[in-house]
Amino acid sequence: MAGVDMSKLEADGVTPRSGSELYTSKDYWEYRFKPKAEGGGGDSDFEWLASWDDLKRIVELVIPDKAARVLLVGCGSSRLGRDMARAGYSRVVQTDYSLACVETMRAAHADEFPGMVFAVADMLRLPEDLRAAGLLGGPAGEPAAAAADPGAAAAGLFDAVIDKAAMDAMLAGKGDVWDPPTDLLEQAHAVCKGTAEALRPGGVYLQVSFAQPHFRRPYLEQEAGWWAAPPTVHKVDRGLGYFAYEYKTPSAAD
Ligand SMILES: C[S@@+](CC[C@H](N)C(=O)[O-])C[C@H]1O[C@@H](n2cnc3c(N)ncnc32)[C@H](O)[C@@H]1O
Repeated sequence: MAGVDMSKLEADGVTPRSGSELYTSKDYWEYRFKPKAEGGGGDSDFEWLASWDDLKRIVELVIPDKAARVLLVGCGSSRLGRDMARAGYSRVVQTDYSLACVETMRAAHADEFPGMVFAVADMLRLPEDLRAAGLLGGPAGEPAAAAADPGAAAAGLFDAVIDKAAMDAMLAGKGDVWDPPTDLLEQAHAVCKGTAEALRPGGVYLQVSFAQPHFRRPYLEQEAGWWAAPPTVHKVDRGLGYFAYEYKTPSAAD
C-alpha cells in the first residue's frame, strides 16, 4: 500500500507509537479500518481523545436541540455518534473520507440505528462531497436529494458540525507549531470554508482537539467572514486536558 510502512504497523499495531505523520495519509486510514479478514487493521471501535461521557456537558450546552441536524466529520470508529443518538439526538449524520470506515460504521449501526446516515466525504471538499451524497442543498440552494436523508430536503444545511481529532490527524506530524506551514494552513482553510458553507446561519462548529488555542486558532480563523465571533473554548477534562472550540456562523442579526 503506497505511503504506509506495513512492517512498522504490524510491529506497533494500528496506532503507531511514533511517526504520527502516518495520520495524514488516507492510505493509512483505509488500511486501519479495513477488516482483518481483508488484510486490514480491523479497527472498528477506537475512541480518540475523549468519549461522549467526557463531552456530554459541552455538546448538550452548545447543541441543546436534540432535533438538530448534526454532522460528525472524520467520524472514524468513534462511539460518539451512537452515544449522541442514544442521548436523543435524532438527526446525526456521520462522514469520513475512508470508505472502509464508512462501511464498517454503517454495518455496526445497522441494528440499533438503521436510519442513521453514513457517507464518504473529504473534509477538504466537504460541500461537494455532501452534495454528491445528497446530504446538502445544491449550489443554487435547491434542496438535497430526499432519498439520502429526509431531513436534508427541508433543511439543506446542517445546524452543527463536530470534528473530534479529525483536523488533528490532518495536521499531524510535520511543521513548526510556532510557524504553521503554508500547505497545512491551506488545508485548514479549505476545511473551514467548506464547514461554514455546510452550516446554516447561526450554526455551530465544534472542534475537539489536543491543540492549545495559541496553536490551533491560526488555522481556524483565517477568514473573518466564517465565524460570527471568537470561539468559546471549553476545557475537556480528560487525560492531560483537551480543548473544544465552539464557533458560530454569522446569523442574520450579526
Ligand atoms: C484521529 S481519527 C479520529 C476519529 C474519530 N473522530 C474519533 O474521535 O475517534 C481521524 C479520523 O479523521 C479521518 N480523516 C482524516 N483526514 C480526513 C479528511 N480529509 N476528510 C475526512 N476524514 C478525514 C480519518 O479517516 C480518521 O477516521
